[in-house]
Amino acid sequence: MNTVSVRAPSNIALAKYMGKSDSALNIPENPSVSMTLSSLCTDLSVSETAQADDCFSEEKPYFTKGTAPNLSDGGRAKFLRHVERVRGGLDAFFSEFGLEARNLQDRVEIKSANTFPHGSGIASSASSFAALTLGVATFYAKDREAFRDLFDVSAPFRRKLSEISRQGSGSSCRSFAGPFVSWDQSTSRSMESGLEPLRDLILVAGRDPKTVGSSEAHQRVKTSPLWKGRVKRAMDRHCKILDAIHHGDFETLALTSWEEFFDMHDLFHTSAPSFTYWNDTTRLILESLSHLPMDRVCVTMDAGPNVHCLVRESEATKWKSHFDTVFPGVEILEDHAGRGAEIIEVST
Ligand code: PMV
Repeated sequence: MNTVSVRAPSNIALAKYMGKSDSALNIPENPSVSMTLSSLCTDLSVSETAQADDCFSEEKPYFTKGTAPNLSDGGRAKFLRHVERVRGGLDAFFSEFGLEARNLQDRVEIKSANTFPHGSGIASSASSFAALTLGVATFYAKDREAFRDLFDVSAPFRRKLSEISRQGSGSSCRSFAGPFVSWDQSTSRSMESGLEPLRDLILVAGRDPKTVGSSEAHQRVKTSPLWKGRVKRAMDRHCKILDAIHHGDFETLALTSWEEFFDMHDLFHTSAPSFTYWNDTTRLILESLSHLPMDRVCVTMDAGPNVHCLVRESEATKWKSHFDTVFPGVEILEDHAGRGAEIIEVST
């Protein structure tokens, strides 16, 4: 069968991308930095189809806890537009790296499955769009093994893919490398860490799809009185966080991340009209976490109700059982840092 399968992880931002200076190209107002995750990911296959149009379907989505499949028609259309975008840029991209494309007139069938709840603030658009970009680009390479070799060894090649991906979903450009990735304007770069390996314990406060999607949030934050000065605050924290990661300074990382996610959520809470991703469980969790020592747990939140707690691997079991006791009934997802999107299988 003429098919390729890929996997791309989500990532959790510590300095946040919120607000765009160019909405068409997804250019951020400020730089951001994230930890790439590993098993919270999107598995995606791209196959040849005899149909006249591309098609996209969600396979075995995260139904197990009673959630419904929730890729809306709009969501599916956004994915299909991105397939067109990727395909449209392949001739130029491939020739830059000495590759050739297969027949770009062929249409594709895409099947995608997330290993975590869709739409609840674990960045599913990051993993989905990274997987989609990588899957479609790999599919159309005439020599897929040569494509895979370049993807494995060439940082500029990965970077180029991440730039294409960014145009579908900004945060997806940070899912092509790891363990930490900094994204400034159009380009993202991986950075090594002086920190002990970290584990992300995600306290799942809610699983409902978001009422305000991230595209809307990027626009609405600019109506907040707190938007004034936001870019400077975010840039300062971005620098501090890069420095803390580089020097293995966990306490500064945790303190700065705490300020940064509150700053982002304060923008949501004060925009016009205001909105929130928090629910009662989120508030309870945050209240309790505010009493923890800053040098042990680094707390952050994405655009959703769930709370990410980054802890040292060596202390993860202890913290997990602490959270199990303090927050009974709250599901905890776990993941560790990864190295970004990968090609799983290609037929030649
Ligand atoms: O990539 P988008 O447009 O879904 O934006 C996501 C933005 C946040 O997840 C809220 C923050 C970030 O930097 O990932």
